Amino acid sequence: MLMTVQDFETAARMRIDPVHADFIAGGAGDEITVRANEEAFRRLRLLPRVLRGSAERALDISVLGSRARTPVLLSPTAFHKLVDEEGEAATARAAAAAGAIMIVSMASTVAVEDIAAAAREAGEHGDPPPLWFQLYIQPDLGFTEALVRRATDAGCAALVVTVDSPVRGAHERDLRNGFLDLPPGLRCEHMVDPREGGRVHPIAMSPVISWEHIDWLRGTTSLPILLKGALHPEDARLAVRHGVDGLLLSNHGGRQLDTVPATVELLPEIAAAVAGRIPIVLDGGVRRGTDVVKALALGACAVGIGRPVMWALAAGGEKGVRRLLELFREELDHALALCGASGVRGLPPDLVRAPAWGP
Ligand code: FNR
Repeated sequence: MLMTVQDFETAARMRIDPVHADFIAGGAGDEITVRANEEAFRRLRLLPRVLRGSAERALDISVLGSRARTPVLLSPTAFHKLVDEEGEAATARAAAAAGAIMIVSMASTVAVEDIAAAAREAGEHGDPPPLWFQLYIQPDLGFTEALVRRATDAGCAALVVTVDSPVRGAHERDLRNGFLDLPPGLRCEHMVDPREGGRVHPIAMSPVISWEHIDWLRGTTSLPILLKGALHPEDARLAVRHGVDGLLLSNHGGRQLDTVPATVELLPEIAAAVAGRIPIVLDGGVRRGTDVVKALALGACAVGIGRPVMWALAAGGEKGVRRLLELFREELDHALALCGASGVRGLPPDLVRAPAWGP
């Protein structure tokens, strides 16, 4: 029975190629940060209040103009067709049915137009939340601009620009397994260049991308821009100064620079740096409803999940992802009730006891 996120991982591993399971679970280097993300949540303690609950908890959020029925959103993850033949279309249907925001990866194996159509089809409770689109700014700015236009035309309501990848992370599991490219028949749909007769470009990770590119992007779109992967408080302040609308506080699930701190460990400092001027979404190691409560109490307005979505998709396709999102909803609601909270908004930081972070 699929009762916990861990159960989804176990079920997924029984169904998919171990090489693909390694691609999903793995991280960079010694995977110290992969483990740190989950461990940091485990080390935080909740300190509930009593005699102040309410019959129902409000779980809905509104962030940068996007309304959702849950503060758990789907972080961008590449290559959903590796684990399910419908790929991102199945994920999008499940997210729409749950009223969750899905961030479409630039490296997705279904085109954003088709993902958007799938989401619209499945919005059971009126309009589903809009999709957001994740972008790696390409050195070819013309191509990047065309992609932004494409995502905007497909109905995406925000851009999430990943900036922690000046070069590719060293995924040693993949190197050992010889997993260096997508299997035949699958491709990154957003890298097909119509200007070149449909040639598929590799996604360029470019060390020369700078704040000037963020300024350039700011000038080319009126969509809200979230920066994904800035970890230093000074970079958070710079993001505000450069007109960024939100932060996705993320260490890429430990897949880029190994040994960076857990994201939840950095959250109080980042929240202090932006001082409420822009919203913060956090991802990395969120596996339980209690993790969601902790992140929200420490200053995030929403959280993202990456690997759990891939495990759920691998374990049960669209239904698997639906069940996963339901599970997060149930666990979150339960944890809030036990904390004496009436909803996800305005949770106070004193709900969380942090250990002195140390080795
Ligand atoms: C990712 N992540 C990611 N991030 C991004 O900006 N663009 C991408 O294409 C991908 N692709 C991707 C693939 C896979 C298989 C994983 C596991 C992760 C990172 C992702 O958005 C997110 O930051 C982390 O996955 C969050 O950590 P957890 O929830 O996996 O612990």
